[in-house]
Amino acid sequence: MKIAVVGTGYVGLVTGTCFAETGNHVTCIDIDEKKVEKLKNKVIPIYEPGLDVLFDRNIKQGRLDFTTNLKEGIKGAKIIFLALPTPPGEDGSADLSYILKVADDLGPILEDYTVIVDKSTVPVGTADKVTAAIAANAKVEFSVVSNPEFLREGVAVEDFMKPDRVVIGTSSKKAQKIMEELYAPLVRQGNPVITMDEKSAELTKYAANSFLATKITFMNEIANMCELVGADVDMVRKGVGTDSRIGKRFLFAGIGYGGSCFPKDVQALAKSAKEVNYDFEILNAVMSKNETQKTKLIDRIKDHFGDIKGKTFSVWGLAFKPYTDDIREAPALVNIKALLDAGAKVKTYDPEAMENVKGQLGDSIEFCEDEYAAAEGADALLIMTEWPVFRTPEFDKIKTLLKENVIFDGRNLYNTETMAELGFTYYSIGRAAVKN
Ligand code: UDX
Repeated sequence: MKIAVVGTGYVGLVTGTCFAETGNHVTCIDIDEKKVEKLKNKVIPIYEPGLDVLFDRNIKQGRLDFTTNLKEGIKGAKIIFLALPTPPGEDGSADLSYILKVADDLGPILEDYTVIVDKSTVPVGTADKVTAAIAANAKVEFSVVSNPEFLREGVAVEDFMKPDRVVIGTSSKKAQKIMEELYAPLVRQGNPVITMDEKSAELTKYAANSFLATKITFMNEIANMCELVGADVDMVRKGVGTDSRIGKRFLFAGIGYGGSCFPKDVQALAKSAKEVNYDFEILNAVMSKNETQKTKLIDRIKDHFGDIKGKTFSVWGLAFKPYTDDIREAPALVNIKALLDAGAKVKTYDPEAMENVKGQLGDSIEFCEDEYAAAEGADALLIMTEWPVFRTPEFDKIKTLLKENVIFDGRNLYNTETMAELGFTYYSIGRAAVKN
């Protein structure tokens, strides 16, 4: 099948590459000339494990190409995916201007029946708006389908190729058939393709992300309780996670969720609710609790050191989570800002995200070549992202590098008993502090 993907951001590029891998001919379209030039030269502008192999293979096989020209790119396409940004506007609602602009442009240039797919996370009612925008100038029949993505950064290729489920929102049987044909290679193991109306599909995405964000926040609250009553959040997690109604995943307490999806989607759902005069109160609590959770360790640091002016902190991890270079809404940045505001210095190491942070913070912090260089001469170590390389470091070496043997761990990487035996003072989330 010939398909087109408009927008070569994270979602668009993964979608386009993976559909080429299942044998379709895919043209990715973007207005950013520099980006398209890079892609044509086989340079992927994002870091996503496993994407490069598929990307190279499909370009070589002639199934994946790139253009800045919308009319050329959609020629002969049976399906056009819209994978465009929906950033939060000033009031927190999703900004649809990118999507609606392309919808306006598509109307007059469609040549045959086409399925237009909203892949971006969009508020309920967007499919109707896109339909109206295209219909205003269209000369041919078309259907607009909502097909939300559930890709996690870092494992997006695997999530795409083996989805838990595929949600297709459409009231058109013709569009449904075409979409089912496209997804057939990805659901051969029997994972369901769930077809529903457009609005339910749009809401499904927000419901899934907001539910997961709430689940994490709930565990962060339990962690805070654990600290006050002397319980251990890891034990509570295991105790509740084995209940199949609750499930083991997304129960890890820490310094809050970040990334490009959860914060934006929780905010947008709360805003959508407000628009229909519904106070989705629980979401407001999730948002404000997540903000305070991010700087939990700063309070511990100030309790421990008193004034931190002039002290140096080693920050391990900048990305909002491992296996990505994405720093959007990353708790690490909020912590670094709090440390700098208090007059402290920061040395840091992250396996992938340092370039992105350099772009934002310049030389206000020191970027180091590895985790040990970042620890050298620091008053304390802070762990912000659970990269595997931080899980089993040489603790004896760390002791020789730090001025004081103290670790503030925002991701609960280490066993508290081990840290006590090793002679560290160790603060983590939802577990008793170890004092040495
Ligand atoms: C998420 C959704 O999982 C995905 O389905 C959607 O399409 C896009 O948003 P992503 O943003 O890549 O994906 O990250 P995810 O792995 O879900 O983690 C989100 C945040 O939650 C991260 O900041 C992570 O550190 C945090 N988290 C996750 C926790 O704090 N505890 C957990 O137990 C799990």
